[in-house]
Amino acid sequence: MSTVTEIRHPLIQHKLAIIRDKDTGSKEFREVVEEIAMLMAYEVTRNIHTEEVVIETPMGPAKCQMLSGKKLAIVPILRAGLGMVEGMRKLIPAAKVGHIGLYRDETTLQPVEYFCKLPQDINERDIILVDPMLATGGSAADAVTLLKRRGATSIRFVGLIAAPEGIQALQAAHPDVDIYLASIDEKLNEKGYIIPGLGDAGDRLFGTK
Ligand code: PRP
Ligand code: URA
Repeated sequence: MSTVTEIRHPLIQHKLAIIRDKDTGSKEFREVVEEIAMLMAYEVTRNIHTEEVVIETPMGPAKCQMLSGKKLAIVPILRAGLGMVEGMRKLIPAAKVGHIGLYRDETTLQPVEYFCKLPQDINERDIILVDPMLATGGSAADAVTLLKRRGATSIRFVGLIAAPEGIQALQAAHPDVDIYLASIDEKLNEKGYIIPGLGDAGDRLFGTK
């Protein structure tokens, strides 16, 4: 079974409080989501491989560690996942970026796919799938299925806020995908929104409501 990591770092928790606030406007919301994603990237990449290299410092050679092994890809689920990409790329600028477009049908809550563009060598990359909200888990589970159909074998999911139902659904569908979150909230409401959550992440990021 996959692992679920709730990153309780004080900086992340402080910033999460800011984006939960209904009075936080779109500009600040976007900036703080980016900052949280950057902080989370630090934890999410904790176990990626490094190799020893020798670097010439002004004082002579130094044995150092640099990233090695499989290359990374960051894949946001559109739209809201876009808000997490730049924060992650600040720490891992060599990562390629793919995009998966999914929206939840408002009545059935089922995800509907409308876009998919991935790096050509996606099957050779460690994939960080990002979406701020893991609610019913349908969108994340579908995105993972889509990535696996393209040959992906190493996928981790990074979200900001999850409902317990969404974690269970993603783990049941994809027990090989480790999950990283800033908060596991209480529940889903009857419309599939996370309580207390932060509302509609896409609308708050892009000012569409
Ligand atoms: C939101 C969110 C997730 C999905 C989560 O996207 O960003 O992708 O809902 O819900 P689920 O776990 O129940 O599938 P939405 O469908 O509202 O699209 P948007 O990002 O374009 O607003
Ligand atoms: N999508 C969101 O943006 N927010 C929720 O609470 C649930 C799904």
